[in-house]
Amino acid sequence: MDINKISRQPAMTARIKRLNELGQGHIFDYFARLTEAEQAHLLQQVAGLDLDLLHLQITMAKSGSVDKPKPKLLLPAPVKTITEWQKEQSEVIADGENALRQGLVAVVTVAGGQGTRLGFVAPKGTFSITPLREKSLFQVFAEKIRFLNQKYQTSIPWFIMTSPINDAETQDFFAENQYFGLASGQVHFFIQSTIPALDNQARLILDRPDHIFGNPNGHGGTVKALWDNGCLKYMKAAGIRYVFYFQVDNALVRLCDPLFLGYHIRLQAEMSSKVVRKRNASEKVGIICQIDHKTGVVEYSDLDPALAEQTDDQNNLTFWAGSIAIHWINVDFLIAENEQGFKLPWHLAHKVIPVLQADGRTVLPAEPNGVKFESFIFDALPDARKNFTMEVAREEEFSPLKNKDGSDSIDSVIEDQYRLARRWLVQAGLLTAQEAEAIKAEISPLTIAGAEDLKGLDPARISKVGENWYIE
Ligand code: UD1
Repeated sequence: MDINKISRQPAMTARIKRLNELGQGHIFDYFARLTEAEQAHLLQQVAGLDLDLLHLQITMAKSGSVDKPKPKLLLPAPVKTITEWQKEQSEVIADGENALRQGLVAVVTVAGGQGTRLGFVAPKGTFSITPLREKSLFQVFAEKIRFLNQKYQTSIPWFIMTSPINDAETQDFFAENQYFGLASGQVHFFIQSTIPALDNQARLILDRPDHIFGNPNGHGGTVKALWDNGCLKYMKAAGIRYVFYFQVDNALVRLCDPLFLGYHIRLQAEMSSKVVRKRNASEKVGIICQIDHKTGVVEYSDLDPALAEQTDDQNNLTFWAGSIAIHWINVDFLIAENEQGFKLPWHLAHKVIPVLQADGRTVLPAEPNGVKFESFIFDALPDARKNFTMEVAREEEFSPLKNKDGSDSIDSVIEDQYRLARRWLVQAGLLTAQEAEAIKAEISPLTIAGAEDLKGLDPARISKVGENWYIE
């Protein structure tokens, strides 16, 4: 079939005309040579293109800027620091714990990314990350949820966002591992959408003769995917009010922290965040701050280096509050974010994108040949009527697996787990700091969520793995 014969289908004809007007006619260059199935495949993608969005993308790619006004004034955000909350915590925790007991909470994990920097081809959540038992990230999180289910006599639903690239593999992994002891009905997978990338001339990119290249639409896509896949409706019907949001790469995440939830509820916040003190000005974390008087995040790549390095008279970073991408978000707020259509802004990133050559080969160029578009969940922060931001100890709650080597790598995440185990063993009074130094221990999230759960530990719960300890 020739592309011109498509004219018998008016809706498709109109789309093809619009695509031509947008300078995208080249996607049909190979059309006449495709098999019927391939033609149908390409046309199916054309039918699914959001042409108004594509128009916006072209404008953004040509101007090289995002569809968001540049902030005029950046100020540090108000943050509840560790010293502040340590004084008040006993009263606030109860509110969070009650909400957990009443079944008002769901967990959302974003796991749709490609893990390019780690160089691991499978979904990142399947990566074996604990030092001795080699549990995967997904298993660690599943065990943390089981701990909470037991402690609060509840059944917390877990929503995992995948992308078309890794959905099947992720779901298979859970099925093969019997959902790590969770009921299969407690784990819900939902797929985020992709968005087409554009080349340096703002044209769609074919990576195969019948395929337009697209990438997952960023973790901001969670907002839309939760809506499109009916998850928000499900949550609402189940009486769930608060979503605990975190990224699949953080091995130390303190899941559903009741103290954090207690503050979020007391302050009637719609979206709340956790931060750690940045290690230094160049650490690759976004900063939570006041952007034109509203709470938001400036991504590390967008922060003016002079501001990143700015210090106060005690030589502390002015913008010290590094986002660890952990939020409480209200279900009603997520619904409101969708009611007038998805509105988070798009960020552009120049990337190397696979492209089909005239000789029929697909190549990955050495230099960035186009732009990918992504939306970020933290761009929803300024839409919230109220926010709450809380500082936490990095060594207790944040150790992301991002890179193969160096910082935030496999080795550093393993070391951070040992370090935290030592800290808890000392805090629980089981070892002195000096004794702990010699110990390498892995602590099971199934039975222990903090030093308090180690107090009076029965030695029978320690098993030896070679010279090391596994405590469950
Ligand atoms: C991210 C944050 C940064 C924060 C840091 C903390 C962004 C842009 N920046 O940085 O502010 O300080 O984490 O660790 O997010 N994902 C999807 N779908 C996508 C893209 C990503 O589910 O389309 C998920 C990934 O699976 C991962 C998470 O989002 O769990 C983070 O993505 P990544 O691109 O690795 O963000 P960072 O640059 O590390």
